[in-house]
Amino acid sequence: MGSVSLKIGDGTARFRKATLCSSAVNIVMIFSVITTNLFALYAFTSSPKHTQILHNNKNISIISEQVSIILREINLSQKKLAQMEKELLGYESIDLSRPNIANELKMFLQHHQLPLGKDSRTGITEMVPSVGHLCEKNSDLLSQYMSYKINAPCNDDWSVAQKLIVKGCEPLPRRRCFSKTVSKVGLNPFPNSLWNPFVVGSSGNKSVNWSGLNCKSFECLKGKKLSKECIDCFDLVKNGNENQRFVKVKSKNDFLVDDVLDLGSSNGGVRIGFDIGGGSGTFAARMAERNVTVITSTLNVDAPFSEFIAARGLFPLYLSLDHRFPFYDNVFDLIHASSAIDVVGVGGKIEKLEFLMFDIDRVLRAGGLLWIDNFYCANEEKKQALTRLIEKFGYKKLKWVVGEKVDSSGSGKSEVVLSAVLQKPVRA
Ligand SMILES: *[C@@H]1O[C@H](CO)[C@@H](O)[C@H](O)[C@H]1NC(C)=O
Ligand SMILES: *[C@@H]1O[C@H](CO)[C@@H](O)[C@H](O)[C@H]1NC(C)=O
Ligand SMILES: *[C@@H]1O[C@H](CO)[C@@H](O)[C@H](O)[C@H]1NC(C)=O
Ligand SMILES: *[C@@H]1O[C@H](CO)[C@@H](O)[C@H](O)[C@H]1NC(C)=O
Ligand SMILES: *[C@@H]1O[C@H](CO)[C@@H](O)[C@H](O)[C@H]1NC(C)=O
Repeated sequence: MGSVSLKIGDGTARFRKATLCSSAVNIVMIFSVITTNLFALYAFTSSPKHTQILHNNKNISIISEQVSIILREINLSQKKLAQMEKELLGYESIDLSRPNIANELKMFLQHHQLPLGKDSRTGITEMVPSVGHLCEKNSDLLSQYMSYKINAPCNDDWSVAQKLIVKGCEPLPRRRCFSKTVSKVGLNPFPNSLWNPFVVGSSGNKSVNWSGLNCKSFECLKGKKLSKECIDCFDLVKNGNENQRFVKVKSKNDFLVDDVLDLGSSNGGVRIGFDIGGGSGTFAARMAERNVTVITSTLNVDAPFSEFIAARGLFPLYLSLDHRFPFYDNVFDLIHASSAIDVVGVGGKIEKLEFLMFDIDRVLRAGGLLWIDNFYCANEEKKQALTRLIEKFGYKKLKWVVGEKVDSSGSGKSEVVLSAVLQKPVRA
C-alpha cells in the first residue's frame, strides 16, 4: 500500500504523508494481530502450567488480571487504529469504526489521488467524495443501503434511498452498481408529450417500476390527493382540473401564466425558470408551450413524479428542499413556489423557511420574478411571519393577494392563502 510516488506537483507531499500514515496503521494492526495471537497461543497451549498454577494454589485472579491487561492493550490499539483511519479519511463526523459499517462506504469515502498530480487550474491534488453529514444519524439504513454487490445490478431499494434523502443524507454515497432500467416504450414526441406522455393504447404503466409504491398503475393514481399541489395531478385530461391550472382562474389567488410573463417581459423577458415542488410538472408544461424552459424539483413521495415529469418531456430535479440548490447565483428569470416550500409547517421555526428563501433569492436574477402561488398559511400569525420574511428581501410587490380558502384536506377549516408576484431588486 502506498509504495507508488507520483513526482508531479504538490501531489507528492500529500501522498507521502498518506503513505507514512498508512504504514503506521499497518504497524498498529500487525501489533494487535500478534498480541491477540500470542495470547490465544498462551491460553491454549499452557494448560499444564495452568493446572500447576491452580495446584500451587496461586490465585486465579493473577490470570484474569493478565487477561484484562491484554484486552485493554488490544482495545487501545483498536481505538488508535480507528482514530488513524478517521484522520486518514478526514471524516470526523462519520464513525467508520462501527462494526457493521459497509466496506463499500469506506472505499467511497477514501480520498483518491489525481493520477497526474496537482491540477494546475484548480490546485486540487485529490478527489474527495462528498456525502451528507446526516447520513451518520441513520447509520443502520445507510449500512443497508451501502451493502450491495459491486459491478452488479443495484438492489431494488430506491425507497431506502429516498428515506435517507428526506432525512438529510444527501448526497448519497452509492455509486458502483448498475441502476435498474425500465424499458420506456410508448413515449410521445415533444410537444405532444406535454399532455399525452404516452401514445394511445399505452397507459405508461410499464415505463415505471412501481415496486415500493402503493399504486401500481397511473389509473390508480387518478383521483388521488397526494399533496396540496397534487390533487389528481396525474390526470391530464383536457379541461380537467390539472389541465386548467395556470390558464383558468378559480379564485382570486390564482394568476394566469400569461399575465405573470407580461410582468416579466422587460430585459429579455422570462426564458428560464424553476418550479419548486412542482407536482407532476404542469407549470413547466404550460411554460414550455410559451418557450420558457422550467426545471421542476420533486421527490417521489407516494408516486413516480420524476418519471412522469420526464415522460412529459420536462426536466425533473430530484432534490429535497433542505439541499442548497445546485444552481449558480442570479441565473433564473422566474421562480414559481407553492405551499411546497412550507418547510416550517404549523408551529415550526420560521428560520427554516428563511434558509430556503435566501437560497431562492440567490438563484433568482436581479429583475427576476418570484411567484408565490397559493401559499397556505394555516393562520394569521403564519401569514404575518411570512410577510415579514418576504419584506426583508425588499422585493417589489407586483401582485399581492391574500384570500381565504377552505382547507383542501377536508377539515372544513378555512386557511389564509397568500399569492404574490415579487420582483427581485438590484442590490449593491
Ligand atoms: C485472590 O486474591 C485476592 C486478593 O489478592 C483475594 O481477595 C481473594 O479472596 C483471593 N481468592 C482466592 C480464591 O484465594
Ligand atoms: C474498550 O473500552 C471501552 C471503554 O473505554 C469499553 O466500553 C469497551 O467495552 C472496551 N472493549 C473491549 C473489547 O474491552
Ligand atoms: C421492478 O423491480 C423489481 C425488483 O428489482 C423487479 O423484480 C421487477 O422486474 C421490476 N419491474 C419492472 C417492470 O422492471
Ligand atoms: C395499467 O394498469 C391498470 C390497472 O392495473 C389497468 O387497468 C390497465 O389496463 C393497465 N394498462 C396497460 C396498458 O397495461
Ligand atoms: C416558440 O418558439 C417557436 C420556434 O421559435 C415559435 O414558432 C413559436 O411561435 C414560439 N411560441 C411562443 C408561444 O412564443
